[in-house]
Amino acid sequence: MDYLKIKGGQKLSGSISISGSKNAALPLIALSILSKKMVEILNLPDVVDIKTLIKLLSNLGANVDFKDPHSCFIDTNFINSTKATYDIVRKMRASILVLGPLLARFGHCEVSLPGGCAIGARPIDLHLSALEKMGADIKIKDGYVIASAKNGLVGANISFDKITVTGTENIIMAAALAKGKTTIINAAKEPEVVILCEILSKFGVKIEGIGTDELVIFGRDKELLEIDKIYVIPDRIEAGTYLCAGAITNSKITITKCEPKHLKAVIAKLEDMGFSFEIKGDKITILPAKQIKPIEIVTTEYPGFPTDMQAQFMAICCIASGVSVIDERLFENRFMHVSELLRMGADIKLNGHIATINGKNLEGTDVMATDLRASSALVLAALVANEVTKVHRIYHLDRGYENLEGKLSNLGAKIERLKEND
Ligand code: EPZ
Repeated sequence: MDYLKIKGGQKLSGSISISGSKNAALPLIALSILSKKMVEILNLPDVVDIKTLIKLLSNLGANVDFKDPHSCFIDTNFINSTKATYDIVRKMRASILVLGPLLARFGHCEVSLPGGCAIGARPIDLHLSALEKMGADIKIKDGYVIASAKNGLVGANISFDKITVTGTENIIMAAALAKGKTTIINAAKEPEVVILCEILSKFGVKIEGIGTDELVIFGRDKELLEIDKIYVIPDRIEAGTYLCAGAITNSKITITKCEPKHLKAVIAKLEDMGFSFEIKGDKITILPAKQIKPIEIVTTEYPGFPTDMQAQFMAICCIASGVSVIDERLFENRFMHVSELLRMGADIKLNGHIATINGKNLEGTDVMATDLRASSALVLAALVANEVTKVHRIYHLDRGYENLEGKLSNLGAKIERLKEND
């Protein structure tokens, strides 16, 4: 196992480019199941979660050929199994994204229940009840979802009790091959959902309401799509994380190959903390604050402040000049980074889903990553902590950040990746 050794106190400078979005690439890889043509996917991030989903598709029989770490060809005409097994699904909850497409194309599939994850129970009841409304027969047996729709799926009116990004994506893909019209009320509006809809539209699926919380999908009654090339959008959470690296070190840095319009809520909060920005095309430059001001944050669905940026902002709040309050509204256990930040001397009090943070200096020490975004928060804190911090169990980071230590080194951070017995 590896760990990151970080010497704090270093100002950053220069620019780094943002990789393709993990959370956009995952549904787009699943989408290849609906294509009768081989699909070329470009601008993939070189991260573990992508490799995990590709391995799942390969295990089903799909042919996957990587031209380079960031682009591959997927031919799903060779799929000869529709059973997504526990050994893969347990590694990544988003594997559930193959459920809708497999059921829509083959009329049956078995997908292991994902189980919870560090940040919460994360059930899939909304995915399953929606597919039942579309005519699927759903059973849970031995830890697997066993789904069948012998006569194909039928369009239905779906109203989600809670906004779920992967739930929306699963049903959009199922609806694309269903017979008739599907309406999704309370649909997620994240950019990752929008690009999925735009690509489906481009390749022959009529969809109304793209970008809104009410989608109408006109199914093709099992007629497969002819998808040839897909380009993955930039990763807004990776981009936000590097803006936070500039913020916490109060440095001027530039991120390139990003999509500023996906970062409005994040940029607004950083402006409230005293930072300013130069934004031009796909480039964002963050400029230092005279004083890093405390902030109040409530996480919510897009376009509001993203829960996936909560931990990173908490790291900045740990050194802000005053008391900040963070209210985590989406996940019941997304404060796993708090105990590790406390080890660094942070002053954080938790009351249910509300964290109160009093800014002060941080001390370098050994800390342990617990989930993807919590890990990035610990790296950010280490950039400003006194002395050296070692962040252990960074396999969590590798799931969603491409070459994080390389990109931070390019910005001037004193960071190195070592083996645990080094
Ligand atoms: C997506 O997860 C993202 N993952 C998450 O990013 C992100 O944190 C989340 O959306 C919220 O923005 C991907 O896109 C691959 P959910 P998603 O589990 O859609 C409840 C990261 O760091 N819910 O649907 O799977 C659930 O309990 C990851 O990159 C149900 O109750 O999120 C939660 O409260 C972490 N029943 C809320 O909805 C269901 O059937 C959203 O959670 C489904 C969800």
